[in-house]
Amino acid sequence: MEVGEQVYSCPSRRPFLVWTLLVPLVLCGSVVFAADGISSCKLLYDSKSDWTVLNRLAPLTNKNFTVESVDEGESYTYIFQLCGDAGGVPGAGVIQVDSKGTEKKTTVIGTYNATQAIGGGDWVMLIYRNGDTYNVHCSKEKRKAFIMISCNRKVDMGQLEVLREEREREQDCFYLFKMDSSAVCPDPPSNLSTGSILLIIGVCLLAVYLIGGFLYQRLIVGAKGMEQFPNYAFWVEFGNLTADGCDFVCRSQNREDSPAYRAVAPESLEEEQEERDDHLLPM
Ligand SMILES: *[C@@H]1O[C@H](CO)[C@@H](O)[C@H](O)[C@H]1NC(C)=O
Ligand SMILES: *[C@@H]1O[C@H](CO)[C@@H](O)[C@H](O)[C@H]1NC(C)=O
Repeated sequence: MEVGEQVYSCPSRRPFLVWTLLVPLVLCGSVVFAADGISSCKLLYDSKSDWTVLNRLAPLTNKNFTVESVDEGESYTYIFQLCGDAGGVPGAGVIQVDSKGTEKKTTVIGTYNATQAIGGGDWVMLIYRNGDTYNVHCSKEKRKAFIMISCNRKVDMGQLEVLREEREREQDCFYLFKMDSSAVCPDPPSNLSTGSILLIIGVCLLAVYLIGGFLYQRLIVGAKGMEQFPNYAFWVEFGNLTADGCDFVCRSQNREDSPAYRAVAPESLEEEQEERDDHLLPM
């Protein structure tokens, strides 16, 4: 690229040029790589594969998912949030609210600073550990929540469901939840497709080229008017060549023929006129 070559011949102007290129690039970058809200989760085992799986859930952040569960006279409301305070309880990923009593008793089922994430092609299993301890069950271990998130292209975020509460054993008790979401589908259609990302990158590069080149021509070379467009001479030449090429390809007759054809045209028009007049006269 011409701009790049000229940078090295005038080192004093280099920082300025770098900025003119960098600012549009940074602006474009923030469009493509939008911030995600999963970074507040702390993984129990800080592995790259767990982060990769967790990343797929990013569209589900910043939302309380609520489900009510009525079972054998007990009525609980469960609230789940991805990497955020469920129901506003600090550190909690899943909470259980006892809706029966006059004062709502809240129990933390799992915390998001003890997260695990396992996933396959069209599902993710999210595990929140280190909840409040059981009072009598399960050897008084800490509660934990399993949230099974399955691919369903029809819903962005489905309804949270309680599948099972396992507490009649010595240890390894758990609360199992289920949710549908298109976020965990292979090639999530709700996100930007590869094609549109390529398009955005293309548009960004064009913008960088135009803005950077324009500023360079205007402020450093000191060009005026149309000359301010980057590589103006090249594009003018390119446009002419394209026009020639199009002319050559698209025109059905040779250009030399056309003047002759045009010369004929007025004559035939006159004839037509006369013919029409002839028709008119008898009437
Ligand atoms: C979740 O619910 C709590 C309590 O109702 C609320 O304070 C908090 O803002 C909610 N969070 C989101 C992201 O909606
Ligand atoms: C998670 O948060 C709880 C409460 O905020 C805290 O007691 C605990 O030490 C934290 N655990 C980790 C692994 O950071």
